[in-house]
Amino acid sequence: MGLTIGIDVGGTKIAAGVVDANGAIGARTQRDTPAESVDETAAAICDAAAELIAGDAVEAVGIGAAGFVSSDRSTVLFAPNLAWRDEPLGARLAETLKIPVVVENDANAAAWGEFAFGAAKDVDHMVCITVGTGIGGGVVIEGELLRGAYGVAAELGHMRVVPGGHRCGCGARGCWEQYASGRALVREGRAQAESGSLAAAQMLSVCGISDPAELTGPMITKAATAGDPCAVELLDDLGRWLGEGLASIATLFDPTTIVISGGVSAAKDLLLKSAQVAFEKHLPAKANRPHPSFGLAELGTDAGIIGAADLARRPATAAPA
Ligand code: BGC
Ligand code: NA
Ligand code: ZN
Repeated sequence: MGLTIGIDVGGTKIAAGVVDANGAIGARTQRDTPAESVDETAAAICDAAAELIAGDAVEAVGIGAAGFVSSDRSTVLFAPNLAWRDEPLGARLAETLKIPVVVENDANAAAWGEFAFGAAKDVDHMVCITVGTGIGGGVVIEGELLRGAYGVAAELGHMRVVPGGHRCGCGARGCWEQYASGRALVREGRAQAESGSLAAAQMLSVCGISDPAELTGPMITKAATAGDPCAVELLDDLGRWLGEGLASIATLFDPTTIVISGGVSAAKDLLLKSAQVAFEKHLPAKANRPHPSFGLAELGTDAGIIGAADLARRPATAAPA
């Protein structure tokens, strides 16, 4: 197969690109996500795809969607942080675009991108977490993406880390994504700011705002990068939650490599260092087993586009030899 399109549908934006068999992106386009409306979201995705289809001879479209995707790679069963409920996204888009459309979980797509072309291209076993609004997971075992019986394996963000903890968009309590995601970072940042401590007031002024409600994740990352102590501590805490969760995840999958991707990974070492320290500290049987390597995504925010485009070339399970 020659060129395919990969589209990463996030909570705020839809990023699309034409991708070749080596994972290189050519033409690109972008739309805002009309997050509250399922119909408008489908229309915006269609519009982005149609623009790219008009410019290149593409053979299929791969969508990375932030939710639980059916095993036939067509329906979004549920999205904890978006409006999709049993949404036949693949069929809708294929009907309009007249081209095969494959829907994948966004974090599976990012993991596949990193596995095929990025930070994990030299290993057979990897776990990738995508830290954005929520936490997504993707697991590759012996070179195959783990899908589970119904397509919804590796929903790592919904692993319970705090019994009776914060309520999650999935309906459960205490999910990992309520403690280690971008949304958790903002919640904690605002709580700090509302406490009125001097350090928090300092952080707000570094961010150039006075109302705690205006605080965003990228602002915290920027303030931390500039050395603001309160912002540094917020990211340090987030990293600790990430590392502790990853230590449990390593007991399940024994990966060669763990990759951290997604918008929040823009904080780089401010997040990675504390995550790695917590991971090494909490890994069960740590003194008696090989440890996985630990690093940031190499494809940055393109991992989802590249992975979705590549998965669109492949059948869901390897064809029998
Ligand atoms: C969803 C996942 C998604 C992740 C990252 C989670 O809340 O359950 O399906 O991969 O967010 O977008
Ligand atoms: Na996943
Ligand atoms: Zn949850």
